[in-house]
Amino acid sequence: MERRSTDLCLPPALIRHVIPDLPSAAELQPYLQRIDEARWYSNFGPLVCELEEKISALLASPSAGRSEYGVHVTTLASGYHALEIALRLSARRHARRVLVPAVTFCACPLAVQHAGLEPVLADVDPTTWMLTPEIARAALQRMELAAVMPVATYGVPQSCAGWDEFSKDTGVPVVLDAAAAFESQRVLRKGLVACSLHATKPFGVGEGAVLLGTDSDQIAQARRFSNFGMIGRVGHADGANTKMSEYHAAVGLAQLERWTAVKARRRAVLELYRRRLGPLAGLVSMQPSIDHAVVSILMLRLSEPIAAAVIDEGRRLGIGLHQTYFPPLYRHPNFARIPLVDIEGKVHMDGDIGDKAAHMPGSEELLKHLVGVPFHAFMREEDVEFVVQHFAELAENSHRVGFPVGGIAHAV
Ligand SMILES: Cc1ncc(COP(=O)(O)O)c(C=O)c1O
Repeated sequence: MERRSTDLCLPPALIRHVIPDLPSAAELQPYLQRIDEARWYSNFGPLVCELEEKISALLASPSAGRSEYGVHVTTLASGYHALEIALRLSARRHARRVLVPAVTFCACPLAVQHAGLEPVLADVDPTTWMLTPEIARAALQRMELAAVMPVATYGVPQSCAGWDEFSKDTGVPVVLDAAAAFESQRVLRKGLVACSLHATKPFGVGEGAVLLGTDSDQIAQARRFSNFGMIGRVGHADGANTKMSEYHAAVGLAQLERWTAVKARRRAVLELYRRRLGPLAGLVSMQPSIDHAVVSILMLRLSEPIAAAVIDEGRRLGIGLHQTYFPPLYRHPNFARIPLVDIEGKVHMDGDIGDKAAHMPGSEELLKHLVGVPFHAFMREEDVEFVVQHFAELAENSHRVGFPVGGIAHAV
């Protein structure tokens, strides 16, 4: 499609599909002042402790649904570390495999491998776009699992009831990757929940994470692991250095003050998209239960399998369309040898891409249908209108002129 002279020029903000919404220097100033005064920069200083207490209170509030258990929190250096530590602490000793969805970020299988375990990539449910307890139960019919790592994909929370029941029935620990679902993801009754505080996530501090659980001992062990396994200066257990510094906690405390406003800004942009996409209902839809998320990445589902062509065209026009979490992990060279599990629980150890695609119809369907659009708090109504107008044009044209379907938008 040629760019017409009547086409609008893209405002620069739209070229980036994500723009973090973090505290300004002025908002950070009082917290930095406290660091200067205390001269305490890391090793569980006053700001880290205050951030943990405040997050614990926020997530244990009745509206977050876990007041009956209390929520224990430790801060960590990154979401990746939170996953690795959670597995080290909770995986069953007599098994080695950990079920991970095929549609997620590289951090998931890497955390499994670095915890000394073996990832197995599960197909995802094409309706919810997630690894579900039903898929994990099917896998368990065919293999022993050390743990399961479901993901709150694109920040839409996983069902706590479903996973609590799964771990109660099967005894398999759940490490829930809620990287983009801070606060939206309720804490499991049993099991650990990891939220990334990376700049691009809804609650960003730059780099960082919180690991959440209802078992205070487990969270204390995670905290100890993050500081070389020491109590005082004495090593008591395995560990590494994965602590959060006082500077990141300063950003976190300033971010907590803005959190209500951050959520409101994201909700408002989602609402703008919803309104503008209304007339395209037959062509484009959103992820189910997206209203329970604080959206930081907005993926749209096209009714036709033309995602690759739409993304190529969008990029040519300068619109920041993307396919976050694609291609599925089994198409990445680094993860190509990991065994696959289909939704009936059958294990597939090897095969070329054609075989893999045939075993993983849910992930392949999403690869062909999902497209991410620019989404951040600084988008104005006219920006959203601009994106949707072009998006609709691209989708319709791609469909009409019969772009090749089923290609992938990434070089792999
Ligand atoms: C699903 C998922 N898991 C884990 C991570 C890793 O989080 P971090 O960047 O804080 O290490 C990310 C980061 O994007 C993610 O999207």
